Amino acid sequence: MNSSHVNKIELLGRIAEMKRIYSVIESSIKGSVCIVVTSGSQGEGKSTLSAGLAIAAAKRNDNRVLLVDFNWYAPILHQIFDVDMGDMVDGYTNGGPMEQVVRHTLINNLDLLPALKETMTERNEEFRHFPSSELLRKAKAEYDVVIVDTAAAFPTNYRMIDPIEISKSSDGVVLVTLTNVTPRQELKRACTAIETAGANILGIVANQWQNPIA
Ligand SMILES: Nc1ncnc2c1ncn2[C@@H]1O[C@H](COP(=O)(O)OP(=O)(O)O)[C@@H](O)[C@H]1O
Ligand SMILES: [Mg+2]
Repeated sequence: MNSSHVNKIELLGRIAEMKRIYSVIESSIKGSVCIVVTSGSQGEGKSTLSAGLAIAAAKRNDNRVLLVDFNWYAPILHQIFDVDMGDMVDGYTNGGPMEQVVRHTLINNLDLLPALKETMTERNEEFRHFPSSELLRKAKAEYDVVIVDTAAAFPTNYRMIDPIEISKSSDGVVLVTLTNVTPRQELKRACTAIETAGANILGIVANQWQNPIA
């Protein structure tokens, strides 16, 4: 692992806001927890937040934490943690233990389920029946905390694992928004879609928010 990856991971582990947001999650939900991170549109900070929350969780109380990259449209977590992408031959669909398919990271107690490399090259039909909800249920049984990075709720695309669908298998959803950039309507649309699916929105993280009276 080169030093820029190590620096980025260490930096993420030091951000106070990540620890604060994780504290809120921790006090909202007792017991083992599966959190989905999504947003109304792209580039709002989902992967950064997911990685930061997962590191904060792993450093707290010796939690066993799994970070999941279910943004197959633009996977990035394998790059941040400098591990190989997933490979279908590892046995994602054979019902075996998560150990077969996760990658250990530099952070103690933090494993990563990276995006599949096949999704970058092969037709999506191959993955239409990928058992993402089943995998999350298994992850929750084996880990104390599961943080799932996903695609933005909109626009939908052919390669995505639908964050709205995945939200239904979670204990709560954290929505990320970019202050003064994300249109209010897009955020509302995402909230409505998540709530209509019956999932629980824990809160909204406003990135780059500045106190107007400061
Ligand atoms: N809170 C933040 N403050 C400043 N820059 C951020 C913040 N969150 C993310 N970024 C930067 O914004 C870019 C997009 O972030 P990323 O987490 O990849 O977004 P997404 O997963 O929603 O596409 C990255 O370059 C990331 O480093
Ligand atoms: Mg991302």
